Amino acid sequence: MIQVKDLTFSYTGKPFIQNMNFNVEKGEIFGFLGPSGAGKSTLQKILLGMLPGYEGSATVGGAECKKHNSDFYQSIGVDFEYSTMYEKLSARENLGFFSSLYKRKVRNIDDLLASVGLENDADKRVSDYSKGMKSRLNFIKALIHDPELLFLDEPTSGLDPTNSRLMKDMVLEEKKRGKTILLTTHNMQDATELCDRVAFIVGGQIYALDTPHNLIMSKGAAKITYSWIDGSEQTATCELDAVSGDEKLRQLIAENRLQSIHSSEPTLNDIFIEITGRTLV
Ligand SMILES: Nc1ncnc2c1ncn2[C@@H]1O[C@H](COP(=O)(O)OP(=O)(O)O)[C@@H](O)[C@H]1O
Ligand SMILES: [Mg+2]
Repeated sequence: MIQVKDLTFSYTGKPFIQNMNFNVEKGEIFGFLGPSGAGKSTLQKILLGMLPGYEGSATVGGAECKKHNSDFYQSIGVDFEYSTMYEKLSARENLGFFSSLYKRKVRNIDDLLASVGLENDADKRVSDYSKGMKSRLNFIKALIHDPELLFLDEPTSGLDPTNSRLMKDMVLEEKKRGKTILLTTHNMQDATELCDRVAFIVGGQIYALDTPHNLIMSKGAAKITYSWIDGSEQTATCELDAVSGDEKLRQLIAENRLQSIHSSEPTLNDIFIEITGRTLV
């Protein structure tokens, strides 16, 4: 669906996106995970044809991104990081207007509004919407024409946990319907839950690209932490696949002196820090 080869891009003369290579397959949720300023939105804009001054090659559906025509924009849906609604119009009027721009069959506006819990606010002006309401409205705007390919820029950013869950379920629902989804996030939880594959991005470069599971398993095995009382509480850690060789643990088990024991896997966040040397914030 998307092929990027030796992609380089600069805003200022100094290369920012450097020599990037990746493919996105049809039907997958592909994530760009990285901290603020990493280049995630820049990459999406290149793929959208908004930044044509790149070198190398980037194609979507076989067409070079700097040459996208109006047919291309009929087939994709974009949820930008910022609101792209007319503030003086109501939600329903906005969706009605944007629907009219598409040649394709459009989805039912009331159903879309209800799907994100905005059915009772449909006739309010967007200027009276909260940030979270605008995010949800922006998201369904991307779905109006039922596009094959969705670009979502930080879709859960600024949402409360309930709305964030709702948004993630809707993204997964679009995947079930066969859509291809490219999303950016700095939230490792979102990346772990949603993405089939994730690219770690920092400073315009890809540091790793794999399934969240493989990335987590690639470094640092799951660990066991256990504690016991020896005067005061003591703790020790060992790797899960090496427990049988841990003498202290064996002794504590034999003497029934274990105070607590738990296992923990590294998170995508731990792996991100280990691979890129950067935190996600
Ligand atoms: N139009 C622009 N002109 C110059 N620099 C820009 C422009 N847009 C973004 N940048 C810079 O490019 C870098 C990456 O931005 P962006 O792609 O928005 O990162 P992310 O989405 O990962 O937070 C930032 O340092 C930002 O300041
Ligand atoms: Mg961004």
